[in-house]
Amino acid sequence: MVDVGAGHAAVLLPQVLAALNIRASGTYLDATFGRGGHAGAILEKLIADGRLLCLDRDMAAVAEARARWGGDPRVAIFLAPFSELGACADAVEPGLKFDGILFDLGVSSPQLDDPARGFSFMRDGPLDMRMTQGEGMSAADVVNGASEAELIRIFREFGEERMAARIARAIVADRKSRPFERTGELAQMITRVARSRERHKHPATRVFQALRIHVNGELDQLAAALHAALDRLAPGGRLAVISFHSLEDRMVKQFMRRHANPDPVYAGLPDMPAHARPKLKLVGKSVEPAGEETERNPRARSARLRVAERLSQGIAA
Ligand SMILES: C[S@@+](CC[C@H](N)C(=O)[O-])C[C@H]1O[C@@H](n2cnc3c(N)ncnc32)[C@H](O)[C@@H]1O
Repeated sequence: MVDVGAGHAAVLLPQVLAALNIRASGTYLDATFGRGGHAGAILEKLIADGRLLCLDRDMAAVAEARARWGGDPRVAIFLAPFSELGACADAVEPGLKFDGILFDLGVSSPQLDDPARGFSFMRDGPLDMRMTQGEGMSAADVVNGASEAELIRIFREFGEERMAARIARAIVADRKSRPFERTGELAQMITRVARSRERHKHPATRVFQALRIHVNGELDQLAAALHAALDRLAPGGRLAVISFHSLEDRMVKQFMRRHANPDPVYAGLPDMPAHARPKLKLVGKSVEPAGEETERNPRARSARLRVAERLSQGIAA
């Protein structure tokens, strides 16, 4: 873990650097710049002809990247969702491929800690949660506008919240008299109607997670970005993904496994077409932070790193 001045501790940093297997003149993509903890450590290993692309959909993160490395010819910085990583790569050089791609999913500490961003049930602020400031629907728009059935679906699907129906019913009843505008109002209401069954977990944890995932289309983003990453990895290139909850981790695990095996449609056939052959090789087992890291940085607690390597199969010459 490295604490960068602006307050985000890079999770599983030595493990990520080892996973990416960095070559000094290689080309790397940090798809989730945040405050640049991982990006900075990657850059330190690159020489003059190495390249690093940094993406983030948060304007404050990108401003930080530009302030630090805007003048470094090795670095290209994009304000973009990572589902668009292919277009960002093409903007640097058409058809550009990477020797390593990192996704460190979720939100950064500066996002969580700033009440004005509305991510936290611990700090009262506007009920917002948009990673790209001002873009698309806010959490308040969803909480005040979605039908009861839609709220139940969001809380179940993205929060695995057992009390989804009870919470959705209470939201719909309360918002008739006054719309929800603040994170504190929503968190208090949830505390009133639903007890957490999990020790050390605030009763609003799952609903806040669900709203954040929904507002930012996080699972659709991840699905699109994993495919784009597969397409953009050079042979031998490494894909490293850190996830923070089971929905993301399941998606990453299934994606890596699916592409580490031949297409089952062609199983047993003597001549397997190139597109049906495995495109990835799994690298080791999933990695979680050691107790020492989670003591220093409790937010690392639920982190899980998965790594895979691009095989040359299915890559157009
Ligand atoms: C956990 S933080 C990354 C921290 C970073 N590795 C560091 O060491 O500072 C996740 C970052 O990913 C960004 N992010 C999340 N989803 C994104 C997406 N779909 N596209 C681009 N950036 C995204 C967030 O805005 C946030 O800044």
